[in-house]
Amino acid sequence: MTRLDVRVAATGRELAAHHEVRREVFVREQGIFAEDDRDGWDEDAVKVVAYAAGRVLGAVRLYPLDEAGLWKGDRLAVLPEGRRLRIGAPLVRFAVATAGARGGTRMIALIQARNVPFFRQLGWSALGDETDYRGATHQEMTIALAGAQPAFAPAGYAWALGAS
Ligand SMILES: CC(C)(COP(=O)(O)OP(=O)(O)OC[C@H]1O[C@@H](n2cnc3c(N)ncnc32)[C@H](O)[C@@H]1OP(=O)(O)O)[C@@H](O)C(=O)NCCC(=O)NCCS
Repeated sequence: MTRLDVRVAATGRELAAHHEVRREVFVREQGIFAEDDRDGWDEDAVKVVAYAAGRVLGAVRLYPLDEAGLWKGDRLAVLPEGRRLRIGAPLVRFAVATAGARGGTRMIALIQARNVPFFRQLGWSALGDETDYRGATHQEMTIALAGAQPAFAPAGYAWALGAS
C-alpha cells in the first residue's frame, strides 16, 4: 500500500517540486500558460505538495484575498500518473483545512468546467454563471471554511493511498 503525505512545501526542494508539477500540468499538458504559470500571488501564497511513495505527484496553492477571511485556492494539479488514486481530493481538503486554520472563513476557486462534479463531491457550490478564463470554460465555486478543519494537524497529514 502506498503512503500519501500532503503538506505545506517547506524546503527549496519541495518548492521546486511544487512548481514542477504545476509546470508539467498547466504549461506542458494543458497549454494554459505558454512558459510559466507563476504570477504575483506566488510570492506570499501557501504552496502545498502531495507525496506518494516518496515522490511529489500533486500540488495546490492558496492565499488570502482580504482581511475579512476570504481565501482563494488555485493551481490544483496531479500528474497524469497519479490521477484517480485519490490525491486530488486530499489536496483540496488540505487547502480548505489550512485556510480555515489560518483564519479564513470562506474559500473561492475558479474551476475548469469538467472538474465541477469533483468539487461538488467535496462540498463546494457554484457561484454565478460559467465564465471564460484563458480560453477554457470555468465556474467559480465556493466553500465555507468555518468548522471545515478535520481532525488532523494543519501542518500535514498522511494515510494509505489507494483507488478503492
Ligand atoms: C482534477 C484533478 C486535480 C483530480 O485529481 P485526482 O487525484 O485525479 O482526483 P481523486 O482521485 O482524488 O478523485 C476523487 C474523486 O473524484 C472523482 N473525480 C476526479 N476527477 C473528476 C472529474 N473531473 N469529474 C468527476 N469526478 C472526478 C474521482 O473519480 C474520485 O471519485 P471516487 O471517490 O468516487 O472514486 C486531476 O485530475 C488533475 O490534476 N487534472 C489536471 C489539472 C486540473 O484540471 N486541475 C484543476 C483545475 S480546476
